[in-house]
Amino acid sequence: MANIVIGVTGGIAAYKAIDLTSKLIQAGHAVRVVLTGNALEFVTPLAFQAISRNHVYTDTFKEEDPSVISHINIGEWADIIVVTPVTANTIGKLANGIYDNMLLNVLAANTKPVIMAPAMNVHMYNQPAVSRNIQTLMGEGYHFIDAESGFLACGYNAKGRMANVPEIKAYIEDLLSTDRSLAGKKVLVTAGPTRESIDPIRYLTNHSSGKMGYAIAEAAASRGAEVVLVSGPVNLTSPGNVERISVESTQDMFEAVKGHLDADIGIFTAAVSDFTPATVHGSKMKKTQDNDELTIELKKTPDILKYAGSHTDGMFVVGFAAETDNVREYAAGKLEKKNADCIVMNDVSNKEIGMNSDDNEVTMLFKDGHEQQFPKMDKQTLGIQIIETLVKRWNA
Ligand code: C5P
Repeated sequence: MANIVIGVTGGIAAYKAIDLTSKLIQAGHAVRVVLTGNALEFVTPLAFQAISRNHVYTDTFKEEDPSVISHINIGEWADIIVVTPVTANTIGKLANGIYDNMLLNVLAANTKPVIMAPAMNVHMYNQPAVSRNIQTLMGEGYHFIDAESGFLACGYNAKGRMANVPEIKAYIEDLLSTDRSLAGKKVLVTAGPTRESIDPIRYLTNHSSGKMGYAIAEAAASRGAEVVLVSGPVNLTSPGNVERISVESTQDMFEAVKGHLDADIGIFTAAVSDFTPATVHGSKMKKTQDNDELTIELKKTPDILKYAGSHTDGMFVVGFAAETDNVREYAAGKLEKKNADCIVMNDVSNKEIGMNSDDNEVTMLFKDGHEQQFPKMDKQTLGIQIIETLVKRWNA
C-alpha cells in the first residue's frame, strides 16, 4: 500500500478531498494532508486528521516534530502527491516558482509524481494565463486530471467542476501501479535516422536525433518491459535495461525488426529513408571535369512499419507521422495504409518541436477513433505519457 500526500487549496471542492482521503484510507493507503491557508476557509484540519489519523500540515513554520523538517520530510515519505482541488492561484504560483506556503514548499522540495485536479469557474479555467501555466506544468511532468462540465458553485453549468472522487482515486492507483505495468511484455522500438550509402564515404540521411524513440524505450523499460531498441546512427547513450541493436541502412533496420515481430507492442519512431541508391559504388565517386550534374538513381526501401502492420497478429503497432503540411490528413491516411493501431502525429514545420529538438508536441490517433492530444513538452516526459496512454488503450 502506498504513502499518499493530499494537498488541498482554497476552492469549494475542498470538501470532496475529505471523501477522497476516506476512500484512500479504506483502500489501505497511508495519507498525510497539507492544507493551504485558503483551504482553511472551506474545511478544517480536524476533519482530515480524524479520517487520516495523521497530523495535518498548514504552516511551514509550525514544526511539531523536532526530528524532521516537515516540508522536506513529507515529500520523502510520499509515493505520490495529489493536489485536489488545485486553484488557478496555486497553479500559477507553482508554474512560476513561487513557494509561499506549506503546500508549495512541499511541492518545491518534491521529486515524486504529482497529480493535479483543477476546479474553478469556467472563465477562470479558460483564462490564457491558466492554460499557459497548466501547459508549463504538464511539460515539467505534472499530471492533470481535466475538470468536468456540470453545475459549478458559481451557478454556471459549464466546464470547471473537479473530476469526481472515483476518477481521481483510479488515476492515483493507475499511476502507482503503472511502474510495472509492462512486466512480462516485449516492446520493440525503432529510432533515429538511417544512412543509405552512395559510395564508401558518402550517404543519404536526415535530421532525426533519435531522442523521441530513446525516451519511449526508456519509459517502456522502466515499466518492466523487455525492450529491443533498433537504432540508426545517433549520439545518444542507450537507456538501462534495453537491448540495443545498432543498424545503418533501412534494409539493416528491416532485417533487425523481422527478428522481433513477436513483440507485444511495436513503436516505429525511426525516420527511415524511403529511398536508397540503386547501386552502391565500390570506390569513391570522382568529380569529373566535364560533368556539371550528377544523377543518383534511387530505389524504394522496404516499409518496415507497413510490414509489421500486416505480418503480425498480436502486435499493437504504433507509427509516427512527422509532416510539414496537411498533417492530420496524412496521419489519418497512414493509420489505414500501414494497418497500424495508432499513429502519433506531429507538425515538423514548427522548428521548436519534432526532429532534432528537445521538445515535441503530438496527437495520438487510434484506430478506434480515440484521440489523445499532448501540449508541447520535453521528449523525456512525452515518452512517459505516450507509453502510459498506450498501456491504457492497449489494456482497454
Ligand atoms: O510513410 P512514412 O515514412 O511517412 O511513415 C512514417 C512512419 O513509418 C514512421 O513510423 C516510420 O518509422 C515508419 N517507416 C518505416 N519504414 C519505412 C518508412 C517509414 O518503418 N521505410
